[in-house]
Amino acid sequence: MSTPPVPTVETERMILRGFRDDDHAAYTAMRADPEVVRYLIGGEALIPFAEEIAASRIAAFNEGWRRGYGVWAVEDRVTGQLIGQAGLARLERSEHVEVLYAFAKPWWGRGRAREAARAALRFGFETAGLDRIVGFVVPENAASARVLEVAGLRSIGTIEYNGFSVLGYAITAEEWRRTS
Ligand SMILES: CC(C)(COP(=O)(O)OP(=O)(O)OC[C@H]1O[C@@H](n2cnc3c(N)ncnc32)[C@H](O)[C@@H]1OP(=O)(O)O)[C@@H](O)C(=O)NCCC(=O)NCCS
Repeated sequence: MSTPPVPTVETERMILRGFRDDDHAAYTAMRADPEVVRYLIGGEALIPFAEEIAASRIAAFNEGWRRGYGVWAVEDRVTGQLIGQAGLARLERSEHVEVLYAFAKPWWGRGRAREAARAALRFGFETAGLDRIVGFVVPENAASARVLEVAGLRSIGTIEYNGFSVLGYAITAEEWRRTS
């Protein structure tokens, strides 16, 4: 089966596009950085398998666009480097759509996640026609919780997810339209 086309979205400083085969080395390096994967599913335990994880995530992200939304490779406009991932994904065994983002460490603290999360929400509501987008973070991941808050999601309390207590956030299409 052929992979679906992935729409490209440009933000002020980044290009959100489909992952390519030549992203594999840079994406593997991200998945092998303990600080980047600490709060991602599987965490540091998966670092020995970073190459395989990178290949399978790239394939799954591209395939996921069949739903009309998905996760992009994030490229820096100036350097052309792959600097992260961002986008929307359906939570396993549910109808909920989650906003996701992760950046290589040198790019942290420069408003990149905020810029990418805003672009993902805009795409989800204005192009994909979603009604609601959620976000989940472990309580220790203060940076990610802040990204969700500055992107306009509101807290919906603590939720049990895959055996963990996570902080839940959500924004509806109506709330998005009112605030952006
Ligand atoms: C979480 C992550 C994506 C944040 O990316 P970032 O580009 O550094 O975030 P931004 O610079 O856009 O910051 C957004 C907000 O978070 C705040 N923030 C950033 N790092 C923070 C930290 N360590 N503690 C508290 N707040 C933080 C920023 O100050 C900013 O808030 P402000 O607008 O009120 O100043 C990045 O740390 C990362 O890739 N982490 C590893 C992967 C990950 O955990 N992904 C999320 C899984 S749920």
